[in-house]
Amino acid sequence: MRTEQPKVIYLKDYQAPEYLIDETNLTFELYEDHSLVHAQLVMRRNPERAAGDAGAGLPPLVLDGQQLELLALSMDDQALTAADYQLDDSHLTLQPKAATFTLDSTVRIHPETNTALEGLYKSGKMFCTQCEAEGFRKITYYLDRPDVMSKFTTTVTAEQHRYPVLLSNGNPVASGSEEGGRHWATWQDPFKKPAYLFALVAGDLWCVEDSFTTMTARDVALRIYVEPENIDKVQHAMDSLKKSMRWDEEVYGREYDLDIFMIVAVNDFNMGAMENKGLNIFNSSCVLAKAETATDAAHQRVEAVVAHEYFHNWSGNRVTCRDWFQLSLKEGFTVFRDAEFSADMNSRTVKRIEDVAFLRTNQFAEDAGPMAHPVRPDSFMEISNFYTLTVYEKGSEVVRMIHTLLGAEGFRKGTDLYFERHDGQAVTCDDFIKAMEDANGVDLTQFKRWYSQAGTPRLAVTEAFDPAARTYTLSFRQSCPATPGQAEKLPFVIPVELGLLDAAGNDLPLRLAGEAQAGGGNRVISVTEAEQSFTFVDIAEKPLPSLLRGLSAPVKLSFPYDRDQLMFLMQHDSDGFNRWDAGQQLSVQVLQELIGQHQRGEPLQLDPRLLTAFRTLLDDESLDQAMVAEMLSLPSEAYLTEISEVADVDAIHAAREFTRQSIGATLFEPLLARYQANRAISRETGYVAEAAHIARRTLQNIALSYLMQSGKADVLAACLEQFKDCDNMTERLSALAVLVNSGFEQEKAEALACFADYFKDDPLVMDQWFSVQAGCGLPGGLERVQALMEHPAFTLKNPNKVRALIGAFANQNLVNFHRADGAGYRFLADHVITLNALNPQIASRQLAPLTRWRKYDDGRQQLMRAELERILASGELSSDVFEVVSKSLA
Ligand code: PHE
Ligand code: ZN
Repeated sequence: MRTEQPKVIYLKDYQAPEYLIDETNLTFELYEDHSLVHAQLVMRRNPERAAGDAGAGLPPLVLDGQQLELLALSMDDQALTAADYQLDDSHLTLQPKAATFTLDSTVRIHPETNTALEGLYKSGKMFCTQCEAEGFRKITYYLDRPDVMSKFTTTVTAEQHRYPVLLSNGNPVASGSEEGGRHWATWQDPFKKPAYLFALVAGDLWCVEDSFTTMTARDVALRIYVEPENIDKVQHAMDSLKKSMRWDEEVYGREYDLDIFMIVAVNDFNMGAMENKGLNIFNSSCVLAKAETATDAAHQRVEAVVAHEYFHNWSGNRVTCRDWFQLSLKEGFTVFRDAEFSADMNSRTVKRIEDVAFLRTNQFAEDAGPMAHPVRPDSFMEISNFYTLTVYEKGSEVVRMIHTLLGAEGFRKGTDLYFERHDGQAVTCDDFIKAMEDANGVDLTQFKRWYSQAGTPRLAVTEAFDPAARTYTLSFRQSCPATPGQAEKLPFVIPVELGLLDAAGNDLPLRLAGEAQAGGGNRVISVTEAEQSFTFVDIAEKPLPSLLRGLSAPVKLSFPYDRDQLMFLMQHDSDGFNRWDAGQQLSVQVLQELIGQHQRGEPLQLDPRLLTAFRTLLDDESLDQAMVAEMLSLPSEAYLTEISEVADVDAIHAAREFTRQSIGATLFEPLLARYQANRAISRETGYVAEAAHIARRTLQNIALSYLMQSGKADVLAACLEQFKDCDNMTERLSALAVLVNSGFEQEKAEALACFADYFKDDPLVMDQWFSVQAGCGLPGGLERVQALMEHPAFTLKNPNKVRALIGAFANQNLVNFHRADGAGYRFLADHVITLNALNPQIASRQLAPLTRWRKYDDGRQQLMRAELERILASGELSSDVFEVVSKSLA
């Protein structure tokens, strides 16, 4: 907590550390009402900074430390007294006498009351840590910055009975028992690492054990630790881990480096998971999965997060970040790596569709809001606020563009050089780019603007066909809206993957003016200027362009397609992603027309072409069912909000619901046929985790949700049958969600009660139960959520619960959250104020929907701003909440 304004930290002020820590020897004594941490730091003057020392003497040593009670301090075995150092809220300052020295400290901390879940804390009955980004300073006095890398040895002592398992990074080297029922274990990590990668776990845990033989035939022990009741939900994560290890060898040539790799699942965790060296700590929601309790989507998330954290061992740990402004160096790159892994393990096109829909809805909104920042920010108040969609998702898109521009082989040359050159170092985004340039002999100077300029670029495209000259010209105009602190932007390098379709829907061979011969029908051109044209020659008939295939750049493209052209692309584009995207653009056009009708008080009239297009999809049995399901999904209300100048919440909701109703009514027969056929297979085969079955279930459930719009009794019966007689959470939760969003009050209430009764002891399933209800757009949403907050399974202390109920309501139930009287805003602000004291990171994340106030009408703007003002005036704010509130009011 703070009373003054938090300081702004600037990238331009970066300086290398004054001192280094070669060795870090830690001893933890864990007790129920406090813990003790002894740290022995073997330190020396940083030679890089020592130039002026001869005249000026050694600079003071300023260690980070927060919420620590200093019990003892000595330097080179000389006890220090209060006169020898200065202590404030966040630093311990002392004066070294020699260029090398050893510092010993003992502090008392209170993990048992740590609700912020940063540093050492308790999740249920176990001790665990979370140190990224700046949590280690809540454990001991330290140089808590990623460019200080040290060899760690850690001893943990605890009561044997309560905490039989004692873990830390690296390899176990010794253990033993003590008097009084306590025991200890010592772990040694041979790799130098920054403090943010430190981890410790103590608890009564069971583990599933397996092994992996690396490309050089070394055996690595794999262990996943969970609370005993979850031991049957670990196999999927273990399989995912082994696949990740193999994939990183095959695709990047990266081998695992320790003899043991451990994952621990904890229930209370601020984020998804953490890549601590050799000891990943996971939110249980990202590890535990079995058919009966986790949906297909949840299984895929586990696979992706396990891969992501594992991949960090190279992209993050072996090569780490110099400072936190470089966060995307590890996160953007690692998200790109995990996305490619998932694409290889599952459907590449579907993975890309999901990621792009997420990016466009959420990252584009962030990039257009008050917290917009470059992929490499230039300043921050609180680094925890910069674990953003921009750093992660847009950062990944930036790496993807490099991959697109250099090709897979060139990209691999670049990563090989990057890992070789920087192994064991803390480096910058510029170093990453330099490796790409050097390995490929290219100049990425202009490309680097993607790291420094915020905002989503616009790319407006027009066409000109000259039948006499047989040329077809595409003209591009790029621009980028102003973002906080950046009024003007320079042109980006925008790779545009494209094709030109002939009247039969085939890709024409492409030859640009000046080129000797035509290439294939798909190519990448780079738009590098504010305005730029490309002329294709030998074009006999006017083609239809397919632009930005696979979303080859994170931009908003516009081209004046009419609806018939979009329907044509939906059917014929050789790029599956663009087939989907054409369908989305068609839906957007149709929905926007309905939104206009609603606003003018006219009766809603749906363009029948959308129904025709959807019918064609349902009739074509040869299509990949996963693609059909994606293409039948209308753009979300959140996406329709993002693309609106001023979002009319009620009109958006009405237009989308009306369209869903019309689809359910008009396409009832083909939807029912698909539903029944797919459900019959589900019943016959039981749950199968394979891609084809996942696709089939997805389509089955989408069909059910449309069918239920009809309100027919036999659809209700089918839905109840599926709810009761299935063997997996994918079918059960979908049926429940469909019921919850229906008007069948009695059946709904019974299903909810029966589900909660059966799963009451499984917190992850209860999270889903909360979410399904929080997202229900029927009237009375706020009252339902308020009632659920009183449910015994709900607690504000568990971040998953907060996300499942408050987060789902504010982010996914737009029509209820934005109700015109502002009660939704007041509800969110009340809980942000409470959470600010409990868990600042979670409080600040939950705030995001309120920061988007500029998107709404005057009345809502005022109400939203008033709640932000109220939070600001509510007392002592954490730096996390203060930064977001003050920036969004600025
Ligand atoms: N570094 C983690 C990841 O993305 C995320 C994380 C950040 C977790 C901060 C906890 C705290 O893999
Ligand atoms: Zn990460």
